[in-house]
Amino acid sequence: MNCKAFVEEQVEQIRQTVGDGQAINALSGGVDSSLVTVLGHRALGTRLRTVFIDNALMREGEPQRVVRMFAGMKIPVELVDAREEFLAALAGVTDPEEKRQAITHTFYATVFGRLVKESGARFLLHGTILTDIEETVAGIKRQHNILSQLGIDTNAAYGYAVVEPLATLRKDGVREVCRFLKLPAEIADRMPFPGPALATRIVGEVTRARLATVRQATAIVEQELAGCGAFQYLAVLLNDRATGIRQNKREFGQILVVRCVESTDAREAAVTELPWPKLQRVSQRIVTEVPDVSRCLYDLTPKPPATIEYI
Ligand code: XMP
Repeated sequence: MNCKAFVEEQVEQIRQTVGDGQAINALSGGVDSSLVTVLGHRALGTRLRTVFIDNALMREGEPQRVVRMFAGMKIPVELVDAREEFLAALAGVTDPEEKRQAITHTFYATVFGRLVKESGARFLLHGTILTDIEETVAGIKRQHNILSQLGIDTNAAYGYAVVEPLATLRKDGVREVCRFLKLPAEIADRMPFPGPALATRIVGEVTRARLATVRQATAIVEQELAGCGAFQYLAVLLNDRATGIRQNKREFGQILVVRCVESTDAREAAVTELPWPKLQRVSQRIVTEVPDVSRCLYDLTPKPPATIEYI
């Protein structure tokens, strides 16, 4: 790919589309939204307002870390606390597509609708990539960030137009452009993390308590597998319990899954052959450190037939 030409074209395109208006974008800290933020700021400067929406579904310390990382690049990011709104929208929802729908609606209609109205922005810059579009259109999974490709007229529905500068790239292409722009390795090499965040790793209802469980397990998996070179590693909370034994007492505890996969573009993935001692250590830490969890599994399923996330 000619990264230089790509950057020039997209910056120009953003300028032309937004004209002399205001735009807004949501940064999650993932490689896609980070690249859009950098391209958007190159194109629009202070006419782009970048927000980080705390949806209660983020990893440990993530909102503060992302704001700090961009402050280091002189890009101001506003932290918007929408935790209660997302938790309320997810209460009682167990169907995976309904969960995604609840998150999408809260994000685009409720929270963004309000921010856009307040700021007078007419455009939302979005980090949609080609794989997101393909999987949604193929009906595999409704990706959080797909709207117009599903026939949603965002102007009519939400009051703003969506601009998608990365819609022709896959994950490897996004990383290539990040490296070309000399963005910190923390961004360019960052492991993918889905927009609906930890909700994609909770089977069944998303509650504060269940989020705390998966968040703690995620931190352990990320600490232990950092540097293993895999494409993505994560923890998933199942919606079931199994009999266990702790301190000579029966315990009907929760079940966590560790997933670690190799991939280049997330369309297909192979399971990483992690060394046995590493797996044992992760499992040991999860069942001793995470309250109410008494069983840990390693997922051996490639994509396809499984997807990487569980929801
Ligand atoms: P799946 O689970 O579909 O995931 O095999 C493929 C890749 O995409 C990420 N993913 C998402 N990213 N919004 C995103 O921005 C989403 O709704 C979403 N769902 C999955 C996932 O982490 C993996 O890297």
